[in-house]
Amino acid sequence: MSQKLLAQVLAYYRDLGFKDIYRRMPEKASPAVTEPAAAVEAEPPALLPVIELPGLTPADDTLEKIREDIGDCKRCRLHEGRHNIVFGVGNPRAKIVFVGEGPGEDEDLQGIPFVGKAGQLLTAMIENTAKKEGIPLLRADVYIANVVKCRPPKNRTPEPDEMEICGQFLFRQLEVLKPKAICVLGGTAMRALLGGKEGVTKMRGQWYKWRGIPVMVTYHPSYLLRAYNAGPKREAWEDLKKLFHFVYD
Ligand code: URA
Repeated sequence: MSQKLLAQVLAYYRDLGFKDIYRRMPEKASPAVTEPAAAVEAEPPALLPVIELPGLTPADDTLEKIREDIGDCKRCRLHEGRHNIVFGVGNPRAKIVFVGEGPGEDEDLQGIPFVGKAGQLLTAMIENTAKKEGIPLLRADVYIANVVKCRPPKNRTPEPDEMEICGQFLFRQLEVLKPKAICVLGGTAMRALLGGKEGVTKMRGQWYKWRGIPVMVTYHPSYLLRAYNAGPKREAWEDLKKLFHFVYD
């Protein structure tokens, strides 16, 4: 990368509020012998401190470090109305990670994802489906996180820049957790991980991949709470069955 382009990239991330820039390490290099970041042709412009790795994910990343890096985040406008950063909850060795959109009012107040009405439905969906299928699985056995960690005002859909900024922390969580499968709940989580413009109705019930990890798409529980008929609920139940059998059979 030329110095000029590097300067532009660094400035872009600085404007987004990033204080540290990391660089992905070569696959097998040990940190002790790895060249300092951007030690290519010449020293990079002194715009930001350049720190060895995490490109986007440090080799020795942990959930605790990600939470620490989020800090008292003010990287986007969503911090303005929040009471709590809703980081994520569950078993750090979970085989399944559920990804939602962003905290609602209850989640914002308690600092825990999916604890309101939609969350109660999600818990029931997980536990009842697993029980019916003879799979010993409770909510506490999975991990649950959101694309954005602060409540959007009036529960509006997160804006692309908010998803872009906060999504980096979700990606690091997923890389650390390394689940056997991810289940994206609704369109926002689906777009954050898989991109594209298709709707959930078209994408649900099928397998995709995010950085090599299988991803199942299903409806967001809030949508199921609003649905007029039992069709989508039945479909979501089928999606979870597929997910649980893939992971636990
Ligand atoms: N909806 C979400 O997407 N996430 C939550 O944590 C709660 C409701």
